[in-house]
Amino acid sequence: MYNYAGKRAIVTGAAHGIGKAIAMRLAGEGCAVSLWDVNQAALQSTLAELNQGGGHHSQVVDVSDLDAVKAASIATTKAWGAVPDVLVNNAGIGRLASILDVTPADFDRTMEVNVRGTFNCCHVLVPAMRDAGGGNIVNMASWFGKSGRPNSLAYCASKFAIIGMTQSMAIDLAAHGIRVNAVCPGTIDNTEMRKQADETAAALGLPSAAERQHLIPLQRLGQPDDIARAVAFLISDEASYMTGQSINVTGGLWMN
Ligand SMILES: NC(=O)c1ccc[n+]([C@@H]2O[C@H](COP(=O)([O-])OP(=O)(O)OC[C@H]3O[C@@H](n4cnc5c(N)ncnc54)[C@H](O)[C@@H]3O)[C@@H](O)[C@H]2O)c1
Repeated sequence: MYNYAGKRAIVTGAAHGIGKAIAMRLAGEGCAVSLWDVNQAALQSTLAELNQGGGHHSQVVDVSDLDAVKAASIATTKAWGAVPDVLVNNAGIGRLASILDVTPADFDRTMEVNVRGTFNCCHVLVPAMRDAGGGNIVNMASWFGKSGRPNSLAYCASKFAIIGMTQSMAIDLAAHGIRVNAVCPGTIDNTEMRKQADETAAALGLPSAAERQHLIPLQRLGQPDDIARAVAFLISDEASYMTGQSINVTGGLWMN
């Protein structure tokens, strides 16, 4: 356990799945959390699950929309009376498709949410974090950001880009006291993305994630909290000499 009392974290894509687990964990360790997501109903439900009185709030925001991110940043900073110490760029989408069947619109949307969304949040919030003396950024990549995978052209491109952005920002921001790392989840269960991927796999006659878990050295699918624990570590002082890293949390599925 870490003590994050007095810290403030923005978590994007916090209404469901991995982002929700990150928000719950950070809040459980005393951090005030601002939940950002496009899904208003799920956002309200997640906010209601956090302990009350912890300085938590939510913003309905599409991270691919720069003006919306600016507005959410202003509202969040006003609510806290201070800038965030932590930014977790977790919001993401993924659609299974190869170069033979991905549509230009799907390619663009994947890049807009995953890459441009990460850029937008950093572009808007990093200057304030720098002026406040430092902070921590964690970007949600994937093992698909380290190796090309089948039927994942746009998603792989977006996650490789996130690892590149993580490394570039880590160098540029080190002198400003801002550490930037990424987490690369493997096959994580109990998320909306996993449900959608399993549905698409079934339609293509491919095995589900559960049917492929024997391929994972630790012999189980990951859970959102496996990722949340890695994020909690990366933003802690225990990781104070780590920046620019892209940490696999894959049960051994990917090791490079
Ligand atoms: N589930 C996995 O196996 C897995 C593996 C590797 C990486 N990841 C990554 O983890 C992150 C979270 O995925 P998840 O599995 O929890 O999926 P999820 O679909 O359960 O959660 C994603 C959240 O992002 C939100 N979101 C989508 N578009 C948004 C936008 N434009 N603006 C703001 N919020 C938006 C959704 O509403 C949702 O709440 C993603 O970046 C994903 O690529 C997931």
